[in-house]
Amino acid sequence: MSILLTGFKAADLDRKTLSGDVVCHVLDIYHRHAIEKVHHVKAVCSAHLPEGEWEKIRFKTGPKLMSGELALEMLQECSDAVGGDPKRVELVFTGRERERNDLWAKVFGKDARKRDFSAHYTASVPGSKPISLVSLPGCFCHRRTDEGGLALAETVAKEIGPGKKLLDMGCGSGLVGFLVASAVPGTSLVMVDSHSRATEAAEINSKALGIPAEIILADNGTPERMDGTFDVFAGNPPYYSEYRIAEVFCETALRALKRGGVSYLVCKNAAGLEPVVKKYFPSVEIAKRRGYAVLKSVKP
Ligand SMILES: C[S@@+](CC[C@H](N)C(=O)[O-])C[C@H]1O[C@@H](n2cnc3c(N)ncnc32)[C@H](O)[C@@H]1O
Repeated sequence: MSILLTGFKAADLDRKTLSGDVVCHVLDIYHRHAIEKVHHVKAVCSAHLPEGEWEKIRFKTGPKLMSGELALEMLQECSDAVGGDPKRVELVFTGRERERNDLWAKVFGKDARKRDFSAHYTASVPGSKPISLVSLPGCFCHRRTDEGGLALAETVAKEIGPGKKLLDMGCGSGLVGFLVASAVPGTSLVMVDSHSRATEAAEINSKALGIPAEIILADNGTPERMDGTFDVFAGNPPYYSEYRIAEVFCETALRALKRGGVSYLVCKNAAGLEPVVKKYFPSVEIAKRRGYAVLKSVKP
């Protein structure tokens, strides 16, 4: 029987934690690649714990590492995976003792009960019916609509014509892509996200809405076979890494678009993003919406 580690990043691991028959599980494929590169061990990226006969599960969490809902859902999964035996779960908690004990008690205490943290939210663009979407703990903006994503969807839905092939990068639960596809007839949709909970939610939404989409789990954009095939690129990238991830979005947009294809990126701070976009595209037009800026560029 093996030991399952979940919630650990490459920097948390060393020879000791990785010794023996150990499997590393992560939710974001970026962390899988980082663990494999640094430690030369195979990691599993999936929205739920991998199946297996686990002797023990070590789960690293804390208020700064993930939302309370995600921590609770993952601890529930740890419990289920070892038949509810608390001795086979080790909680590595970076935070206050009281918070750790609260979390533990919700899963292993006498009043423990199984909770479902999936949530529905609705969103719409002008002139179209609202759509209902599911989000899961771990998805960006769980339970609500992001104003930046909405500004992006409204702009793209207003500007593109019917029958276009759209790449929604960093799709989350699919807000932008599904809003545009539901408003603009004949839109064909490809969605990419690095987080397995996001791609799982997008799959659920694609089926529930009856909007077909190719949904890809990746942190380095679309596969080569899709290069030069898109009419439109839409992205609402995270901005926590000094534009490193925004650069991955721009690189992908340039590679994935046809000549004359249009890229739309949304952000709060256009002055910060504009020079990044200009490394990839010759010109940028900036439009303000909902307190956000949408940066539009055309592939020459
Ligand atoms: C700001 S959220 C946008 C979510 C959704 N599009 C919206 O507007 O509500 C950014 C998304 O980018 C994803 N992401 C981060 N790095 C990524 C990468 N390298 N490749 C693809 N997606 C990435 C995150 O998991 C997250 O879902």
